[in-house]
Amino acid sequence: MSIHSENRKKVTVKSIAKYKGSEKIVMITAYDRLFANLFESQVDMILVGDSLNMSFLGRNDTLSANLEQMIYHTKAVCNGANTPLVVFDMPYGSYNSKEEALKNAVRVYKETDADAIKIEGGSDRVDIVEHLTKNGIAVVSHIGLMPQFVRGDGGYIVRGKTPEDEAELLKDAKMLEQAGAFAMVLEGIKTDVAAKITDEISIPTIGIGAGLGCDGQVLVWSDMFGFFEEFTPKFVKKYLDGANLIREALGEYVDEVKEGKFPTDRYSY
Ligand code: KIV
Repeated sequence: MSIHSENRKKVTVKSIAKYKGSEKIVMITAYDRLFANLFESQVDMILVGDSLNMSFLGRNDTLSANLEQMIYHTKAVCNGANTPLVVFDMPYGSYNSKEEALKNAVRVYKETDADAIKIEGGSDRVDIVEHLTKNGIAVVSHIGLMPQFVRGDGGYIVRGKTPEDEAELLKDAKMLEQAGAFAMVLEGIKTDVAAKITDEISIPTIGIGAGLGCDGQVLVWSDMFGFFEEFTPKFVKKYLDGANLIREALGEYVDEVKEGKFPTDRYSY
C-alpha cells in the first residue's frame, strides 16, 4: 500500500519530464475538493476530466461538458490538490481554432490554478498545440481513442490494430511532441503500439487502456472505485466495491432512522 509522505514537492510541468524512464506517473481524475484532497498525497497528476459529464451528470458521452462547468470543478480540485500537477480537460468545442483555443485556455489560467490543459487530437491539432505552447500554456495531448470524437467515429474504437493506423498514431505523437506538448495521454491503443510510441517520443506518455508500456497510467476515479455501474470497460480495474459499500452504509442509516435508533444521545444536544 502506498501512502506517500506529506512533504512531497509540487509536481510541475518541468519535474514531470524527469519521471520518464525512472518512475511511473500516477494520474487520477477528480472533480471536487473532497476527492482531490483524498488523492493528493499519493498521485502525481490530477485530471479534471470531461468524463465528469458521464460519471456525475449521467450523459452517454463527454460532449456536453462546457467551459463554465469545467472551470467550476477545476477551482474545487485546485482547492484540494496542493502537490499534484492539475490538468484541465478542454471541453468539446472549446478549441476548434488556435485563436479560440488560446482565448479559452487563457481564461482557464486566469480563473483557476490549473497547471496545464489537455486537448484531444492528432496532427490536425498541431497548429493549436504550437500556438498554445508559444503563448505560455502547458499542453497535454490526447491521442488514440478520443472520447470527444466518439459520435463522428461511430463508437469507442480501439486504435493501432493495422500497420497504417500504427503509423498514423506514431506520426501524430511525434508531431505533437514537436509542437510543444509536454505529456501525452494514450487512450484505447494496442499495447505494443502504445509501447512503441512511448519509446519513440521523449515526453512522458500516460496510458488508459493502452497497456503497461506507457510512462504512467490514468483512470477515472468513479470507475476504479466501483461507483460507476452503467458499464465497465475492459481497461478498468475496480480497486474498491464503492457502490455496494455506500448501499450497505446507507441501509444501516435508513434502518436506524426508521426504527427510531438514530440519533441517540451521543448525536443530540
Ligand atoms: O475525461 C477524462 O477523464 C479523460 C481520461 C479518460 C483520460 O480524458
